[in-house]
Amino acid sequence: MDMARVLVVGAGFMGAGIAQVCAQAGHRVSLMDVKPAALERAMEGMRTSMDKLAAKGLIGEEPETVLARVTPVSDMHSAAQADWVLEAALELEPLKLELFAELDRLAPVETPLASNTSSIPISRLGAATSHPQRVLGLHFFGPVPLMGLVEVVKGERTSNEVFERGVEFIRALGKHPVRVERDIPGFVMNRVFAAAFREAVSLVADGVTTPEDLDAGMRLGYGWAAGPFQVVDNAGLDTFVLIDRFLRAAGEDDLLVRSDLVERLAQEGRLGRKVGKGFYDYTPEGKQVPRRKE
Ligand SMILES: NC(=O)c1ccc[n+]([C@@H]2O[C@H](COP(=O)([O-])OP(=O)(O)OC[C@H]3O[C@@H](n4cnc5c(N)ncnc54)[C@H](O)[C@@H]3O)[C@@H](O)[C@H]2O)c1
Repeated sequence: MDMARVLVVGAGFMGAGIAQVCAQAGHRVSLMDVKPAALERAMEGMRTSMDKLAAKGLIGEEPETVLARVTPVSDMHSAAQADWVLEAALELEPLKLELFAELDRLAPVETPLASNTSSIPISRLGAATSHPQRVLGLHFFGPVPLMGLVEVVKGERTSNEVFERGVEFIRALGKHPVRVERDIPGFVMNRVFAAAFREAVSLVADGVTTPEDLDAGMRLGYGWAAGPFQVVDNAGLDTFVLIDRFLRAAGEDDLLVRSDLVERLAQEGRLGRKVGKGFYDYTPEGKQVPRRKE
């Protein structure tokens, strides 16, 4: 696809990463958040990330040139000129329903509206609009600049055309689209991860092993690039808790952890790598340090 105008809604961990990979692919991006501090952090984070990628020769342009394609904005009016809208705001259903209703009013009817939701059915977001055929899931994995896959999710009323455009859009970002042809809770990848993580948390909560050993085991024994506790530290324990709450309310018991370990750590402020502590502790440069003994 040629250069597109993209509106990214939400400039947190995921929104910033999504804006970055879109800009790296040549798109013009408006990055929107209600919190000015989030926008500042996002612009800074993109610069740091691209400096690292440039030092490794992984991007072909100067970070400044790529960043110049991203405009931080505080409202969604640029939806009126957008070829794509990618929503990555907080995982709260009422908020997303409101955002989709508003985006549906603002964006031209041929502009696809995608959500990065981890757990809320795409069909429900579609039902908040007058054009559910243009609503789909584009479920990125974090950290977005480093992860090679995106689930493309078809809601009950998503048109085939919009679904295929989603697949092409993701390919043009240099990512592998995993096709999710039916809108089921947790889509595909989070369902598989949930099964592993549910067991991992139980084993640690029951004192059978430690996050450190279990993560090492999954890396060395099963070839995972990062163990499940490292994955959740990267994703953010607060985001994990929001997803868990939604799935619990939706009665998706198979996808839930059986212990309140994550919730307790989140309450202690151990929200993951972004705050320097989660299951693991991190140096100010974000390097994982060996875990404290309890
Ligand atoms: N963290 C992950 O690894 C991960 C992976 C895949 C999908 N997701 C999904 O991506 C979404 C964002 O997650 P995150 O980890 O980036 O969360 P985050 O907390 O880092 O960022 C969310 C951002 O949304 C902003 N926001 C709140 N209300 C808003 C509004 N009305 N308009 C615009 N922005 C608003 C917040 O200010 C915040 O900056 C969630 O739906 C989450 O489930 C997260």
